[in-house]
Amino acid sequence: MATDHTVLFSADTIAEKVNELADRIDRDHGEDGVVVIVVLKGAAIFAADLVRAMETETELAYLTASSYVDGFTPGESLSLRDDLDVDVGERDVLIVDDIIDTGRTLQELSALVVAQGPRRVATVALVSKTSRRAPDAEPDYHGLEIGDEFIYGYGLDWDERYRDLAFIALANP
Ligand code: IMP
Ligand code: MG
Repeated sequence: MATDHTVLFSADTIAEKVNELADRIDRDHGEDGVVVIVVLKGAAIFAADLVRAMETETELAYLTASSYVDGFTPGESLSLRDDLDVDVGERDVLIVDDIIDTGRTLQELSALVVAQGPRRVATVALVSKTSRRAPDAEPDYHGLEIGDEFIYGYGLDWDERYRDLAFIALANP
């Protein structure tokens, strides 16, 4: 059955922002390249576009984080799988997530990576949900901003659905 979606950010808008982010990240990273840690599942699609838009050489790694218990409500505890299979010692690291809300996911992942002795850790989220951010939890880079809305598409799920949409849509407009 076809679903009507309320498009918040079109595929073109997203592509423009991804290219801008790639340029900014390129300017900040040198010849040594960067270890890109993709926060699964949501950031898979954003990260795929971002690393292909970047000139900086990347090595890809993946971590799974999940804080939404029922697809809508932030859970009490963040579940992380810390099976990072790449040596980040003395290297530049970029942690990539789809959206930053309270900032806990990126904060906890950063701490996990910092404990492994990288040269530098930066964070990027395609979308910044600005209303509920914890103090000192701003990402280094973000592309788009929203308020307290729940969004889905372009990797972001609504209860595991719609990650495959090329655009970002607003739930319950
Ligand atoms: P934080 O730890 O509160 O910053 O939550 C960030 C995580 O919550 C993201 O990685 C997403 O998986 C999820 N999330 C937050 N807001 C939304 C949304 O509007 N749609 C889908 N997932 C979201
Ligand atoms: Mg996530």
